[in-house]
Amino acid sequence: MTIENPEIPVIAIDGPSGSGKGTIARRVASALGLHLLDSGALYRLTALAAAGQGKLDASPEILAGIAESLNVRFSTDRQGEEQVWLNDVNVSDQLRTEESGRMASRVAALPAVRKALLGVQKDFRKAPGLVADGRDMGTTVFPDAVLKIFLTAGAAERAKRRHKQLNDKGIDVSLAALSRDIEDRDRRDSERSVAPLRPAEDARLLDSSNLTIDEVTRTILDWAKDRIIVKRI
Ligand code: DC
Repeated sequence: MTIENPEIPVIAIDGPSGSGKGTIARRVASALGLHLLDSGALYRLTALAAAGQGKLDASPEILAGIAESLNVRFSTDRQGEEQVWLNDVNVSDQLRTEESGRMASRVAALPAVRKALLGVQKDFRKAPGLVADGRDMGTTVFPDAVLKIFLTAGAAERAKRRHKQLNDKGIDVSLAALSRDIEDRDRRDSERSVAPLRPAEDARLLDSSNLTIDEVTRTILDWAKDRIIVKRI
């Protein structure tokens, strides 16, 4: 059963891939001493679990079953890096690949999968509060979030950031291919019929194209100040 507790505050950070949501959400959660939900990871994990069973092209019902019964564990290694375990196998690196992102985008377009992950996501809402990062946190999963942010950045800037990230990891991908990929994924994520990528009506828009990670974090912490009892800023 899903326990929903409206008294536990949620900060929803939504936006397209490459807007910096993941990094920002982690920083905001850590500064405020709140839990963190990386909802994209759940879609990626569903895709990985399905692919591992050779069921990526199975029916939506079968894929929803896989989503609902994900055996996932999150831990932190000695360097403070988050590690993700699927069926007790460390899938942290595999999870972040472009391939996983593409597969995730496909399963994320299925209403049955989104419905199956709804309860899984809501279960992350625990005291003292949650920072939830995704596409539909403010619109669908936590419509009563105390603060909703829609973080954007131009497609070219997002491709550049992703390119740098991959280069730093020693992965060689062309910038043009990445741009195409980002634009394709944006289109799929915004045009799908269920929970399309769009800002909640009461979301604050924040364009990070010309802002540093620190500046974006600071802005959100400022906005959070009057809505959340902060641990430390
Ligand atoms: O944020 P990300 O790149 O890890 O997300 C992977 C895919 O999952 C992306 O194509 C969009 C989808 N997604 C979604 O549909 N809804 C969410 N709340 C989070 C991610």
